[in-house]
Amino acid sequence: MQQPLRNFFQHIETFFDGPFDGALNPMRQLGSLAFFLYWIVAGSGIYIYIFFDTSVSGAYESVEWMTNQWYLAGIMRSLHRYASDAMVVVAMVHLLREFSYGRYVGARWFAWFTGVPIIWFLFFSGVSGYWLVWDMLAQYVAIGSMEWLDWLGIFGKQVANNFLSPITITDRFFTLLVFIHIFVPLFLLFIMWFHVMRLKSPRINPPKMLMISVSLALVVLSLVYPATSHEKADLSAVALNLDFDWFYLIAYPLFDAIGPGPMWAVGIGVTILVSLVPLLNRTKREPAAFVSLEKCNGCSRCASDCPYDAIEMKPRTDGLKFDIEAVVDANACVACGICVGACPVSTPFRHDEQLVTGIDLPEPSLKSLRDSAVDTMNKTRAKAGQQNAIMVFGCKNGVNLEKLNAEAKANNIHMGILQVPCSGMLPPSFIDFAISRGSMDGVVVMGCSENGCYHRFGQFWTEDRINQLRDPNLRTRVPRERLATIWANPTNLTKALNQVSDFNKKLSSLPAQQEPSTASGGDK
Ligand code: HEM
Ligand code: SF4
Ligand code: SF4
Repeated sequence: MQQPLRNFFQHIETFFDGPFDGALNPMRQLGSLAFFLYWIVAGSGIYIYIFFDTSVSGAYESVEWMTNQWYLAGIMRSLHRYASDAMVVVAMVHLLREFSYGRYVGARWFAWFTGVPIIWFLFFSGVSGYWLVWDMLAQYVAIGSMEWLDWLGIFGKQVANNFLSPITITDRFFTLLVFIHIFVPLFLLFIMWFHVMRLKSPRINPPKMLMISVSLALVVLSLVYPATSHEKADLSAVALNLDFDWFYLIAYPLFDAIGPGPMWAVGIGVTILVSLVPLLNRTKREPAAFVSLEKCNGCSRCASDCPYDAIEMKPRTDGLKFDIEAVVDANACVACGICVGACPVSTPFRHDEQLVTGIDLPEPSLKSLRDSAVDTMNKTRAKAGQQNAIMVFGCKNGVNLEKLNAEAKANNIHMGILQVPCSGMLPPSFIDFAISRGSMDGVVVMGCSENGCYHRFGQFWTEDRINQLRDPNLRTRVPRERLATIWANPTNLTKALNQVSDFNKKLSSLPAQQEPSTASGGDK
């Protein structure tokens, strides 16, 4: 189920890459969009609360007054509703997308697990809002909700009865509903914060252009199709012919059909099943990064580049002259290797037969990467002869490198490929090494589509290191025209092939490199 869903998402994302130019693709901003929508809901909610009458007799009229002031309070009411609806859609699509990409595996279980209660609180926030309008829909929702809670027997008596008689529903009870509608969304905000707490620099604000576009779309929708109410609640009548909100109230028709007990069973069953997704996944957990203290100078680059905050800088324990050392929290590490790419000691230009760096992965280790790179470059160079030889370092979550290589071969392009867990694992010195020692004519670094790095920051750090905005950076002596970066997901094989082909043509137009030689392990 996961793979077809992932293919589906990758196709949709590719489709959106067109109009949104990659960087603004909303499909890769779902978490931050949900946060943004929350702020719209909160802001518009505060505004309409100013005019809201919290009494049973006055609530409906006050909402009607707002609706009639279509140019301001009416827009605010509609924004409040539509941004809430959009939040449900965005949160559910975000859930499905994170699931399809398996971004809950290993240490990432925390974000998944804390996402599950978000759904409950999101629905509870929306449903409690519907009560406040005190129209026929509110009456239907309130009675249904109370019947559902009554089934648990926690209130001692049947609370749903409160709604059956105008005498029993008091202003005090209504004020309690208002309090619930304020308190529950506040608690939702707290869980949203908890949800991203363990992530380093979580993206909680979408790009400005996306915020403007979403806000404009919601305002236009509010003007064209303003939110309205049903008839005022009438407890002597049964609510019929309701104009339903399928975003928040989707469970109510099911509740009517199957009753409160089975409905609890469905709700709790689905919640447990979704919560257990990280446990049900049988993907082997990769062993965590480890530090070789004798090579660590305490520069902190690994700690600042780790997207999962899995590295802490602690006081030195080995008596070397440095104040601090890197310490990996194996429970938080997802083995992306980005820290290896960040460490200044990670370089293939080494005298040592045993290449040891400050921080490394057990698999693939930096040494194994260098050895494979040397081997691949030698073979590619030999096969290419006088034609261009291109070394491709590609992340395992992007385009399938084997398939790309086969297509390239068919197009008479000579490529050597080396897969890394994330493009961010590649120390920039490998690019230098490939060109100056491996005598490659060009190097391609590939990874997930733009802004869609599976490991969150690998792509950004790679770009920054190449552009000398982040250490360790790519040395100035490396001719940039012999380097290409390609960001593409597995469905973008053709796009990636075209870019490789263009790069190959560009290489042919460049002045010849020095005489091809054979790559060796390093400085000996
Ligand atoms: C209002 C609802 C939600 C909001 C505002 C929200 C927000 C976010 C944000 C801001 C991120 C970080 C994105 C980044 O910086 O890369 C994130 C990641 C994530 N979210 Fe949510 N989320 C919501 C609901 C959910 C739900 C319902 C689930 C699943 C049950 C979920 C699962 C995840 C996972 C697995 C990640 C990835 C964590 C990682 O990269 O390690 N989220 N979310
Ligand atoms: S491999 Fe390194 S960068 Fe990646 S999660 Fe582990 S410690 Fe952090
Ligand atoms: S980047 Fe390397 S040298 Fe710097 S603190 Fe981390 S392990 Fe030590």
